[in-house]
Amino acid sequence: MPEVDQEGKDYGLDIPVKTEGFFLKGSHALDWGIKNRLARIFNPDTGRTVMLAIDHGYFQGPTTGLERIDLNIVPLAPYADTIMLTRGILRTTIPPTYRGGIVLRATGGPSILKELSNEQIAVDMEDAVRLNVSALAVQVFIGGEFETQSVHNMTRLVDRGNRYGIPILAVTAVGKDMARDARYFRLACRICAELGAHYIKTYYIPDGFDTVAASCPVPLVMAGGKKLPELEALQMSYNAVQEGAAGVDMGRNIFQSDAPEAMIQAVRGVVHKNLKPQEAYELFLEIKNKLILKKCG
Ligand code: R5P
Repeated sequence: MPEVDQEGKDYGLDIPVKTEGFFLKGSHALDWGIKNRLARIFNPDTGRTVMLAIDHGYFQGPTTGLERIDLNIVPLAPYADTIMLTRGILRTTIPPTYRGGIVLRATGGPSILKELSNEQIAVDMEDAVRLNVSALAVQVFIGGEFETQSVHNMTRLVDRGNRYGIPILAVTAVGKDMARDARYFRLACRICAELGAHYIKTYYIPDGFDTVAASCPVPLVMAGGKKLPELEALQMSYNAVQEGAAGVDMGRNIFQSDAPEAMIQAVRGVVHKNLKPQEAYELFLEIKNKLILKKCG
């Protein structure tokens, strides 16, 4: 029998119990597990995230910069708050010692040779739990040929995610014919949020992005898109976070840079330290030069 301890005496009677809120927009009423997972994606100190997107292979095979994820991406992982990827790459290539968030691609089906909006759910919730993921990502094709199917993929994942405590990231996919304007993105993001997505990835647009963010009741992260010159990509990231994005989810603009390790650190400066684009670009050049000197020995 353990020794009987004395009854507690210090109840802090004059100190009210704190009722903690939650730092992310629209997320205060979520369950503990979902909040905890979101806090592995978004830094609670800044309320923002740098997600590194490397899931391109799920529909387009070995994309430039992703031919050897072990060589090109694993060294970048410590600079990302979260990696967005497929379970194939996670299991084969990402060391299980990685401590950042994992956002798992949960839909797929068609390749670039077919109609991309014809996706289905491609991961079982049990496997997502087994992989200890922080969120699942689903492509939503508003206005696309298989719009309803992709919305249903999302709502089914939201139901399952709520059951298991896993947040769902809705990615607003833009078909090649869709106009990328504020009206379209307000529509797409709002539909995803209304139907339960916990956060949303969407494209930056120079005109009206602030209204897209303001009319979306959950956090938005900015999608990177095709490769731009580094200063332009930093400027776009800066504009997005200043206009309401809770961070970025960037792939090609990081791993197709001629100095990916420098670029991801510059993006972090913009997202987490509010560096101005020119300051971040100077940081990029400084780190890039250091890395070149190190290589030359
Ligand atoms: C497609 O929409 C996927 O989510 C991409 O594979 C990826 O996340 C896109 O990243 P980026 O456009 O920044 O290269």
